[in-house]
Amino acid sequence: MSRKILIAGNWKMNKTATEAVELAKPIIEAIGNQNDIDVLMCPPFTSISAVSELIGNSTVRVGAQNMSDKASGAYTGEISAAMLRDLQVSYVILGHSERRSYYGETDAFINRKVLACLENNLKPVLCVGETLEEREAGKVEEVIKTQLVGGLANVPADKAESVVIAYEPVWAIGTGKTATPEQAQEVHAFIRKELIGLLGQVGNAIRILYGGSMKPANADELLAKPDIDGGLIGGAALVAKDFLALIESGVKAQANKI
Ligand code: 13P
Repeated sequence: MSRKILIAGNWKMNKTATEAVELAKPIIEAIGNQNDIDVLMCPPFTSISAVSELIGNSTVRVGAQNMSDKASGAYTGEISAAMLRDLQVSYVILGHSERRSYYGETDAFINRKVLACLENNLKPVLCVGETLEEREAGKVEEVIKTQLVGGLANVPADKAESVVIAYEPVWAIGTGKTATPEQAQEVHAFIRKELIGLLGQVGNAIRILYGGSMKPANADELLAKPDIDGGLIGGAALVAKDFLALIESGVKAQANKI
C-alpha cells in the first residue's frame, strides 16, 4: 500500500502574522505545485488568513493547531470548524501533548474535536505519544492504545481515510532527543496494527507521522521506515531552509516507497 508522504510544520505559538508571511513565502514559492508529497503549514490562528492568501495555486496546504468541539455559540475564545474552513484550512492538529499536559485535554474531549473535524470535511491530525516515565515503566503500547481508542471512538468508516496520526514521544519534543528510526518504526507498526483493529483495512491507508526533534540530519533515516509516512515538525519548521530540506527528504523517501 503506498501512502502519500505528508511533511507538516507545527509552528506552535510562534510568528506574528507579519513574520508568518516572511517564513511562508519562500517555502510556498519553492514548492510551487509539486505533487509528489503533501506539504502542510500550521501557523497560529492569527496568521492563518495571511498564509492562506499566499497559497495561490501552490499545492501547499494550511492547517490549524487546535479547534473547538462545538459548532458555534457562546464559547468565548473558541474557533469553530466552519471558521477554519472559510480560511482554506484543510487539516487540524488535535490532542498535541502540549495541549494534553498544559490545558488538560482528555481523550474524550479530543475525540469530540476529531468527530467535529470529520463532520466538516477537515482532516484531523491526532497526536499520540508517551512520556519518558511511561516508556521507562514499559507502558508505551498501553498509553498509545488508550489514546487511539479514546481519540478515534465513533469515527465513521467512510471518513476514516482522512485521519492522520502523529506519533510524538513526549520526551523527544523540543529536546533534541529523537527516537531512533527503529524505536519509531516499532511504535508506528503497533499503531498501524491498532488502526486496522479499530477501523478495518482502511488502517493501511492512514498516514502515521513521526514528530519529535525531526530535522534535516535525521529525516532520511526516519522516513525510510515502512510505517513512517511523514513528519510533524516543530522547531525545524520555523526555518525555511530546514523545512525545505525536510520536504526534499520526503520527496526522496516517497520515490523509494513506490
Ligand atoms: P520539535 O520538532 O520542535 O521537537 O516539535 C515536535 C512537535 O511537537 C510537533 O508537533
